[in-house]
Amino acid sequence: MTTNTTAADSSSISTSPATATDTFGAATAAPLRVAVIIGSNREGRFGPIVADWLLARIREHADFEADVIDLADSHLPTALSYNPSPETLAELGKVTPKLAAADAFVVLTPEYNHSYPASLKSLIDWHNAEWQAKPLAFVSYGGLSGGLRAVEHLRPVFAELHTMTIRDTVSFHNAGALFADDGTHKDPEAANAAAKSMLDQLHWWAWALRSAKEVRPYGR
Ligand SMILES: Cc1cc2nc3c(=O)[nH]c(=O)nc-3n(C[C@H](O)[C@H](O)[C@H](O)COP(=O)(O)O)c2cc1C
Repeated sequence: MTTNTTAADSSSISTSPATATDTFGAATAAPLRVAVIIGSNREGRFGPIVADWLLARIREHADFEADVIDLADSHLPTALSYNPSPETLAELGKVTPKLAAADAFVVLTPEYNHSYPASLKSLIDWHNAEWQAKPLAFVSYGGLSGGLRAVEHLRPVFAELHTMTIRDTVSFHNAGALFADDGTHKDPEAANAAAKSMLDQLHWWAWALRSAKEVRPYGR
């Protein structure tokens, strides 16, 4: 496991919950909704093991409420349409409301051929406003690269959608060897600390952007 986190980077991030007395108004006291997107839909995938670890870290973070978007449960076509069929609308119905309700995202991505999976690109391209002016963090996994190339390919995609990607990531290199057969991480201390830093940063941005949008809608 490696992380881009340094102690200096994360020391200035406050984890205190926003309160009703914030400059931006009372609604900022509501918990922040984070959508966790499980990017792999491959048969026999490893993704759910990492997702369970991530969801446990989010549960430890008192100020987030998590929603899961598992791309193995939705079947969006790769052919985009401005006039989707009833079948496609049904598939969109499984994911779009969760994206729209989210104040923040964590994308869990493996690396396939030095990039991210097609299932993830399909979810991204079927949506637009749902991604805008919201922060997004990455947890990646794979072979030697730990999925870092997938993450760096995703950053410019999300920049196009006005999504604020979080600097720190958590990455699992040769991920299969890091987790025991029961799905628990064999040596979780560093990974858990990296997740906390990343989630603290995500929380700060989610709070800041939601608060700002209450005062002034994005882009106007
Ligand atoms: C088609 C394919 C291509 C892959 N390419 C890479 C790669 O470029 N770099 C890497 O580190 N791992 C690569 N891997 C290993 C995967 O990242 C690793 O098996 C991971 O667990 C896949 O995620 P999943 O099991 O959730 O689908 C590849 C795996 C597959 C199936």
